[in-house]
Amino acid sequence: MNNLICGLVLVTCMVNCDAEQRTVDSNVGKITGDIRTVKIGPNTADIITFLGIPYAEPPVGNLRFRKPVKKAKFVNTYSASDFGASCTQFHEMYTPDKMDEDCLFLNIYTPITTGSDLKYSVMIFIHGGGFIFGDGKVMNGEKLTAYGKLITVSINYRLGPLGFLNTGDDTVDTNNGLRDQHLAIKWVKDNIESFGGDPNSITLFGESAGSGSVMYQAIYPENEGLFQRAIAESGSANSFWAITPDPEDKAKSLAEILDCPDTSSSKAIVQCLRDFKNTTHIALVANMTGDGFQCWGPSLDGDFVIKDRIDALDHPTSQTNLIPFTNLDLMMGTTDYDGVVFLTFGEVATHFAELQSASTVDEIQQANENLMLSVLKNVFGKDLALELLDSVIFLYTNYEDPSDGLLHKKQIADFATDVGFFVSTATALGKHAYQNTGSKTYQYEFSDRHDFQSKAPWIKGALHGDELLYVLGLHEDLRFYYAITEEQFTAKWPLATTMMDYWTNFAKTGDPNSPRKPAVEWREYTSSDKNYLYITSDNITNRKHLNARRTAFWTSYVPKLIKTTSGGHWSHKI
Ligand SMILES: *[C@@H]1O[C@H](CO)[C@@H](O)[C@H](O)[C@H]1NC(C)=O
Ligand SMILES: *[C@@H]1O[C@H](CO)[C@@H](O)[C@H](O)[C@H]1NC(C)=O
Ligand SMILES: *[C@@H]1O[C@H](CO)[C@@H](O)[C@H](O)[C@H]1NC(C)=O
Repeated sequence: MNNLICGLVLVTCMVNCDAEQRTVDSNVGKITGDIRTVKIGPNTADIITFLGIPYAEPPVGNLRFRKPVKKAKFVNTYSASDFGASCTQFHEMYTPDKMDEDCLFLNIYTPITTGSDLKYSVMIFIHGGGFIFGDGKVMNGEKLTAYGKLITVSINYRLGPLGFLNTGDDTVDTNNGLRDQHLAIKWVKDNIESFGGDPNSITLFGESAGSGSVMYQAIYPENEGLFQRAIAESGSANSFWAITPDPEDKAKSLAEILDCPDTSSSKAIVQCLRDFKNTTHIALVANMTGDGFQCWGPSLDGDFVIKDRIDALDHPTSQTNLIPFTNLDLMMGTTDYDGVVFLTFGEVATHFAELQSASTVDEIQQANENLMLSVLKNVFGKDLALELLDSVIFLYTNYEDPSDGLLHKKQIADFATDVGFFVSTATALGKHAYQNTGSKTYQYEFSDRHDFQSKAPWIKGALHGDELLYVLGLHEDLRFYYAITEEQFTAKWPLATTMMDYWTNFAKTGDPNSPRKPAVEWREYTSSDKNYLYITSDNITNRKHLNARRTAFWTSYVPKLIKTTSGGHWSHKI
């Protein structure tokens, strides 16, 4: 560790004289960061930030649609004082300050080193945003670093067509967004020791598409040994939206929308898309290249994204050996109203509006049924949707208290949560617990309701992404999608510290209960008990067998139903 201390040279302040700087001597050259003060709840703490470090050569020109190329060593000291550009994107929810095709940067937040031999555990955050928007800048872990005394890293990866174009042949490299993540993880493994990090204690964590990404990295054999633990928050590689069907059709349709003169071959399409200068325009029109929920994201390529590996996550007792997945400590969870996020797209949104305004039980039931059909069509296609509809209505109908309109509405949230997030999470957890011998498995359900956004009264729990607000310490940068008063902050801060304790404990030891002992000990998930931690502000309890009947419906009953009615192959994704 003495090397590290020698590597941290105090640089004379020349430009930004509020900031004291530190320079680290890493395998890729010298990198200068800044000491900054971070607010953590009522307190503050100093950390060191290294922002906008390029981990790959700019993926532009001939490198567009190619695997990322490792960044060459820095010749001069690299000044890591500002965020790099976010990858080009377009979405109503979030607009980055600066965007560019040259966007493969990562950011590192470290505690101030004390000169001891301690090496800090490392958490690498993979952001969500449906594989089409988001960046490492806004979803950063600086509060986790300040609070939990470990290193956090956030990364950018290519998005939309620039990250996920797949022509179905070898004209382009595929799934480059995932390959970017892999290269960034490798960069951290190779260099983090110079920043005071422990290269043998690295945890990936992510939410939504970031969570799907974490799971993709966890089942990618080339990642073996690069990280030790994974936290997947609301999403998995086997979630239906994490696999884009018919990617070659989308490539063609993109070329058509962009007025490419020749779309008769992959070569012609790629030539045109590679020559297309205005990437902002590509991002803008990318949402018109398909219907449904899955436009641009990972797709099968026989190399990084392989059907057998994904299927293995659907089948807990399958014998497929998933490396490095089975050797990692794994924490996975969902929120109780996770799936509501799927009710706000396209045609589905129209029926959701009907539901919101429905007042009689009959109106609610009708809106529910319309919504179910509409979601099923998006996920399974029309024929399968029609086959499944009656059984789905049967399962997700409130017979217990027919006069309770709110309970009727809850049914649709359960349905969408199961289809979108929960069942794929449950089977992946099952697979992990079934197969692992040395590693640990944990499950949570986050169910705390907050009033930071306006929401319907029937939503009595947590929406998609809500747990992340707490995990990231109620970070100010996340306020692009919520607003919080001083009073609300004070009320919810204890929940944030609880979440940060569990998460950073897990990152340090693979056990959310150690080293900082929580008020409630979180029991390990096992194949037999399926323990999970139920989390709200006023009740944290260990429970068992979350949504067991609903899970059995999708994993046991539906495959049989489909087999008997259509006599054929069934996959719950495509
Ligand atoms: C690029 O495309 C965007 C979105 O269509 C447009 O607003 C912008 O003007 C274009 N830029 C140039 C230089 O043509
Ligand atoms: C694509 O985005 C534009 C701009 O927000 C929007 O007007 C349009 O409806 C979207 N198209 C689809 C198919 O979602
Ligand atoms: C917390 O949940 C447990 C069941 O898991 C229940 O028995 C208990 O009553 C709940 N406590 C509160 C305060 O709601």
